[in-house]
Amino acid sequence: MSSTPPSSLLVLLLCLPSLMLPLPALALTTSRRLLLDQFWPRHLPHSNAPRSEPAAGYFPPTDGGGDQLTQAPGTNPPAGEPLNVILAGTSDPAVLVDSGLDGGFRNFFLTSDELSSGVGFAGECLGQHEGAPQTANLGDGNGYVNETAVLRWDYTDPSLGTCRETVLGGNHFRYWRQDGKSANSSAVFMATSYEMPIAQGHNIVVNGYNLGRDWLVGNITHSPIDTDALTNTSTFSGTVSYAGFVYSTSISYVSGLLANTSVGVNHGSTVGIDGKNALDGLVAVLDVKITTTPKNATSKKSAAVPMSAPPPPLRGLLPALLLSLLFGAISL
Ligand SMILES: *[C@@H]1O[C@H](CO)[C@@H](O)[C@H](O)[C@H]1NC(C)=O
Ligand SMILES: *[C@@H]1O[C@H](CO)[C@@H](O)[C@H](O)[C@H]1NC(C)=O
Ligand SMILES: *[C@@H]1O[C@H](CO)[C@@H](O)[C@H](O)[C@H]1NC(C)=O
Ligand SMILES: *[C@@H]1O[C@H](CO)[C@@H](O)[C@H](O)[C@H]1NC(C)=O
Ligand SMILES: *[C@@H]1O[C@H](CO)[C@@H](O)[C@H](O)[C@H]1NC(C)=O
Ligand SMILES: *[C@@H]1O[C@H](CO)[C@@H](O)[C@H](O)[C@H]1NC(C)=O
Repeated sequence: MSSTPPSSLLVLLLCLPSLMLPLPALALTTSRRLLLDQFWPRHLPHSNAPRSEPAAGYFPPTDGGGDQLTQAPGTNPPAGEPLNVILAGTSDPAVLVDSGLDGGFRNFFLTSDELSSGVGFAGECLGQHEGAPQTANLGDGNGYVNETAVLRWDYTDPSLGTCRETVLGGNHFRYWRQDGKSANSSAVFMATSYEMPIAQGHNIVVNGYNLGRDWLVGNITHSPIDTDALTNTSTFSGTVSYAGFVYSTSISYVSGLLANTSVGVNHGSTVGIDGKNALDGLVAVLDVKITTTPKNATSKKSAAVPMSAPPPPLRGLLPALLLSLLFGAISL
């Protein structure tokens, strides 16, 4: 599907404002429950009884009747995108909260310029959201649910950089929380991919699922990840900071959650070419701990970090801003 920039712009402008809702803040839990997961019968008819938090910090979705692939809307036969990054439930509880405040998930993924050293993903362009949501079933008893939100690589500009991503393409991820009552790990499952510019219909670049995952990990480690050299024993670590919070991240690549395949994968035949599969079958599991909390952490003023919805006055400026961005981008 390709479309000319003017009609793409129209689509972009007609998009409804994001319906992103903040997830309810999760209660902080420090108690360690017994690790009964290993004794839980697997691949049996799914029970809604709660399972204890696994040592890995997430439950494999297929154990609870779910899928490690999302479902992309309008695909026939049904196809989905790999949930190829997991923020483990063993992470600092504050990082598992979908918030830009108090060291939350969105703060971890933000960055600004060379002075900061964050990961570099922010909410969608001026709170706009394009397209129908993807759905995922994390096997937690909630069935298929809409994505929570999309974060896009912000080209080192947290306020307008995701508008560039929307027009020019780039790295982005959709995410879901595994918090249903039968498998409540609080882990965040992320479908990461590197997409083409809007003028090329936002298809995924060659090898764009594996590369999107590894560029995101590289943004955490500040060092390139060699995608072809990865195995299920690869581990990395990195330190990033934003707004005074310092995060230490351990990354492990694991196999067994995703298949090494192109079957059932959205855009699978154009992402995996030259005899290579679209997916290498690896998932990057992030365990993120906050090592420094700034003294001003609970100040209301920390609301200065950009969130998904723009302040109301911005909405009137949206068409003009997008026009200038689009044509600025095209004349590059
Ligand atoms: C999921 O998204 C669709 C399309 O935006 C919407 O119609 C539907 O109500 C959403 N479902 C839930 C449970 O929010
Ligand atoms: C999931 O766990 C979190 C944190 O322990 C808790 O706040 C939440 O209520 C739980 N949700 C369900 C559906 O049990
Ligand atoms: C950080 O992300 C950008 C955008 O996806 C990518 O071009 C860059 O290579 C990444 N950095 C590393 C070190 O992987
Ligand atoms: C790692 O992958 C190999 C096959 O390449 C497999 O035999 C092994 O069981 C995997 N190990 C783990 C821990 O998943
Ligand atoms: C995926 O499968 C291909 C063969 O189809 C193999 O060459 C490659 O090493 C596998 N990748 C991983 C990470 O196991
Ligand atoms: C809190 O302090 C840090 C430095 O420790 C600073 O980077 C950050 O911008 C401050 N946040 C607010 C909201 O003032």
